[in-house]
Amino acid sequence: MQKIRYLLATDLDGTFVGDEAGLRELLDYYDSLPERVALAYVTGRHRVSAMDLIRGEGLPVPDILVTDVGTSVFAGPALAEDLGWKHRMSENWNPQAVLRIAEGIPGIRLQDLPDTRRVSFDADGGEPAEKLRSALSAESIPHTFVFSSGRDVDILPEGGGKGEALRYVIGKFAEERARVLVAGDSGNDLDMLMLGYPSVIVSNARPELLEAEDHETLFRASRPCAGGILEAWMHFHGNTADISG
Ligand code: GLC
Ligand code: MG
Repeated sequence: MQKIRYLLATDLDGTFVGDEAGLRELLDYYDSLPERVALAYVTGRHRVSAMDLIRGEGLPVPDILVTDVGTSVFAGPALAEDLGWKHRMSENWNPQAVLRIAEGIPGIRLQDLPDTRRVSFDADGGEPAEKLRSALSAESIPHTFVFSSGRDVDILPEGGGKGEALRYVIGKFAEERARVLVAGDSGNDLDMLMLGYPSVIVSNARPELLEAEDHETLFRASRPCAGGILEAWMHFHGNTADISG
């Protein structure tokens, strides 16, 4: 794969997807540019669910697909699984221990997922989620804890998450001086929005992101979903010359 020079790394639900007119505008704008902007979708969905959404909404097929809250990376024309990342995610991962500990905690229900590359729950708010977090820590189970939208609890392998996966993807597939924009709307996007790349929180973001700490290249859009991404792209990269210039 040729190294990426321009990259939009975006969450799907509530960010890239959610405002059809805004998405049309963004894609038309990208089509008008002299250079192609590569797409990385970075989603909480599992692969089949992400592909269903891509097909159902008629989204462009991405160059890179990061699924399961950053625990899986797929790249290239066939979107083949990246084995380096897969290996890293399986080294120190014990989903059975997570399941065992979660059994004793009321107010969380296991999500129905095709495999255990991550273990996710629907929680009745922050309190049971917090109980699970402390129980895992008390038993020294290596993991990454992610809470989104007041309900979704993702227990990931240590070192997993959208942020670490995106750091890996950019390191492997992008040019050093690549122009990047990262976009998100909820808690599981926080770590990738904080990597330090130009980033956008769309205006429809969940409260947990509206409270996120500012950094120099964090843009808060006034438009929702893809319209907000377009606004941020113009802000960061709109009037900049080609990176080779
Ligand atoms: C998506 C996934 C779900 C996950 C949530 C938060 O909704 O489908 O499994 O828990 O994102 O990351
Ligand atoms: Mg989202």
